Amino acid sequence: MRLTLFATARDAADSLARHVVAFVREKPDLVLGLPTGRTPIRFYRELVRQARAGAVDLGRLVTFNLDEFLGVGPRHRGSYRFYMERHFFRQIGLPGDRANFLDGMASDPRGECERYERAIAAFGGIDIQILGIGGNGHIGFNEPGSWLEVRTHIVELRPETRRANALLFDGDPVRVPREALSMGVGTILGARRILMLATGKEKARAVAKMVRGPLTTDVPASLLQLHADVEVLLDAAAASRLDRA
Ligand code: PGA
Repeated sequence: MRLTLFATARDAADSLARHVVAFVREKPDLVLGLPTGRTPIRFYRELVRQARAGAVDLGRLVTFNLDEFLGVGPRHRGSYRFYMERHFFRQIGLPGDRANFLDGMASDPRGECERYERAIAAFGGIDIQILGIGGNGHIGFNEPGSWLEVRTHIVELRPETRRANALLFDGDPVRVPREALSMGVGTILGARRILMLATGKEKARAVAKMVRGPLTTDVPASLLQLHADVEVLLDAAAASRLDRA
């Protein structure tokens, strides 16, 4: 795992955007795995800015989002699809058929997970997976626990994750769905390259465990140590516990 440290969260996000711009220039039809959450908002903003300035053409990208709430449709303001349209896709005008999502309203969620795995494979796999990290060490919606499902699957969200997402559901954690669909850790590890953006002091403990701790399903992000090409972009706050792990 390579760690790159930045003074501020903004510097880290802007650097991530520059990385992605450089990769897209090399391969315009890049297959990009994408996260949601508060952390990457600045990253998307900067990517959009660069695209609008003509620095890069994002119109041929293929994207796969990591996860989606179960029972929430694309037009629901809490859905990750809504987030992506708002922060990224609508801004760059990416054709709808190039942006892949798990369907939170699928009548057969298990079948939907299998479809997603097949779709990723049909595009030749994910070139670059962008990740955040949960304060509890989750990646995607792979929550800490005694075991993990490897491929895309249905997950039960932990209370802390529902609390962390409450703002998307009128500030009420009870209204956050109990379940979600998520790429599995095996799906994530299948990406050729992984770039993680982690900022803020509430991520410091999880980051330290991910980087220095033992491999354990209790900290799903620690399994990223198994991947040969992971870069973690950190601000000073998120890096603040690395010497204490
Ligand atoms: P956050 O979410 O960016 O909103 O903190 C990150 C995550 O849970 O992966």
